[in-house]
Amino acid sequence: MYSRQLFVCGLIISCIIILSQCIGRKVETDIRGEQYAVATSCATCHKSIWDTYLASAHNNTSGLASISNVSGSFLPPDNVFHYSNGSKVTMEQRDSGLFQGTYRFDITIGSGRKAQTYLYWKEGKYFQLPVSYFVPARQWANSPGFPATHPKFDRLIPGTCFGCHSSMVALKEVKMEKLHIAEEFERNKMVFGIDCQRCHGPAAEHVQFHTEHPEEKDGRYMVRVRALGNQQQLDMCAICHSGLKTPQKAPFGFRPGDALSDYFYPDLSRPVKATEMDVHGNQYQLLSASECFIKSKGIMNCSTCHDPHTNERSNMQVFSRRCMNCHRSVEHKNTAVLTENCIDCHMPALPSSAITLLTKGQASPTPDSVRTHLIAIYTRLSQ
Ligand code: HEC
Ligand code: HEC
Ligand code: HEC
Ligand code: HEC
Ligand code: HEC
Ligand code: HEC
Ligand code: HEC
Repeated sequence: MYSRQLFVCGLIISCIIILSQCIGRKVETDIRGEQYAVATSCATCHKSIWDTYLASAHNNTSGLASISNVSGSFLPPDNVFHYSNGSKVTMEQRDSGLFQGTYRFDITIGSGRKAQTYLYWKEGKYFQLPVSYFVPARQWANSPGFPATHPKFDRLIPGTCFGCHSSMVALKEVKMEKLHIAEEFERNKMVFGIDCQRCHGPAAEHVQFHTEHPEEKDGRYMVRVRALGNQQQLDMCAICHSGLKTPQKAPFGFRPGDALSDYFYPDLSRPVKATEMDVHGNQYQLLSASECFIKSKGIMNCSTCHDPHTNERSNMQVFSRRCMNCHRSVEHKNTAVLTENCIDCHMPALPSSAITLLTKGQASPTPDSVRTHLIAIYTRLSQ
């Protein structure tokens, strides 16, 4: 409990600091302040990156809810979720918007890769709706951790969610209510998705310089990611891909080159053995416990396999080629081993214990399955 309060406290204090820096500015082009360019301004000069980025999970991980980004069905009979006490919740599209019972779908969280959850707004707060969408089952499902007996509409969503699923959320006020910290948000004032500047840092000067100097071919006023150290490149992703930790400052202020350890306290509670770690969200820890990572001695980072601007989901051939950049001639005892898919054997999808969803007609929840980043010989591990 203590560490959780510390967690929320740290986040809130840093949000206040960030917000206080914004007060008093008149012309605001981006809610993050004048150091930031308008999020869409990168498209003019970086068109090919922009075009592929639009389809990425990062771009689509949050948004104002609309019929085009809510994955679940609003058509009967698929639009109903039943509870064990006989009550039900119906998903409806009306002229005034999308509704779950009498509550409005205001914000969508999740690109719909595996699951999507929804928030509604009430008096300065965001609440999670009880029914989520579970992609593998193509069904509405009970939101993770919600009771299966009856719908529950009072689960508050903390700012931490937005820290990983958006590029900024505007906080109006943070106060203590009895022993709780109450955050009050500004309605729908958010930079949705993980945008270019969330990873690359503020770019107003960069945009202004290159707009005024179209002949300049070298990127100016911009951190060169490839020139950073390997650990710094890893930390750029680990800020969101190393699970829940206790924050020291709001993650929104993270810039390329910053150290993860300046934003979070070291996590002493996590399991020491990688095989005991939950696969969900821990890509950084799992990768760094892999033989590939350890033995390749400081040259491996997330970009070794992932193009951060392109959706390459499920393209096993592309990923396998990246394995073969290092493992040019792998020798397997079983010579029938496929070369187009190294992934299913050495990075299998494993059930998450953190995220489980209950769908219609099921007795127990189905775990979300996540691709483990502990690259290993799994037949050996299970022996
Ligand atoms: C007016 C044109 C222009 C705009 C607008 C612009 N850039 Fe650039 N940017 C450039 C040029 C020119 C380069 C250098 C050539 C290259 O790497 O593409 C560059 C390079 C970069 C680099 C690579 C730096 C390096 O050396 O590795 C990043 C990252 C970058 N821009 C991010 C952004 C982001 C984020 C935005 C939007 C907020 C943006 N740019 C908007 C012109 C622009
Ligand atoms: C600000 C937080 C944040 C940062 C920084 C971040 N990610 Fe993510 N990433 C997410 C979230 C949230 C998702 C889940 C998106 C979804 O499906 O809704 C995600 C999803 C992904 C996926 C799955 C994509 C897919 O299509 O299945 C990959 C791969 C990934 N991130 C790699 C990276 C890499 C590499 C970096 C660093 C260069 C990085 N991420 C930085 C938050 C972040
Ligand atoms: C999830 C984090 C993330 C997001 C979001 C992101 N980038 Fe990048 N970007 C990176 C990383 C990491 C590299 C270095 C890649 C490498 O080492 O190959 C990079 C490299 C670049 C480069 C220089 C190298 C190149 O590939 O030309 C440019 C330009 C760039 N990004 C622009 C953008 C623009 C424009 C956007 C928004 C459309 C964007 N980035 C969104 C992480 C990100
Ligand atoms: C520390 C960063 C972090 C925080 C905090 C966080 N998430 Fe996530 N979330 C992720 C990442 C990374 C992924 C995707 C990769 C994975 O599954 O490991 C993800 C995946 C998801 C997905 C599935 C997306 C898809 O398209 O399949 C949903 C839904 C989601 N998160 C909702 C939430 C909600 C609601 C909260 C707040 C209560 C929250 N997350 C807090 C990082 C975070
Ligand atoms: C940056 C280079 C690099 C990349 C990329 C890479 N590996 Fe490795 N991997 C290594 C090194 C170095 C070792 C140590 C053993 C060796 O020298 O062959 C290793 C070891 C392994 C092992 C043996 C693990 C054990 O526990 O004994 C497996 C299996 C493996 N890699 C599979 C993969 C797969 C699958 C991919 C792609 C998803 C991949 N590797 C990508 C460098 C790499
Ligand atoms: C050795 C190659 C390799 C490296 C290095 C690597 N990944 Fe992956 N990653 C993969 C493969 C392969 C997949 C599976 C792709 C798929 O199923 O679409 C994947 C999937 C993911 C997913 C989606 C998880 C899911 O269950 O859908 C996320 C998020 C992700 N990677 C983040 C990262 C981050 C963050 C790093 C750096 C800490 C990283 N990856 C480093 C190969 C790699
Ligand atoms: C059908 C499952 C399967 C596939 C597909 C597969 N592997 Fe393996 N791999 C194994 C098993 C099992 C072992 C350990 C026993 C052996 O050597 O056959 C292994 C061993 C390895 C090793 C360690 C070899 C050593 O000398 O210790 C590496 C590296 C490796 N695989 C890389 C790859 C790469 C790269 C690919 C894709 C080109 C790949 N594997 C495809 C199952 C697979």
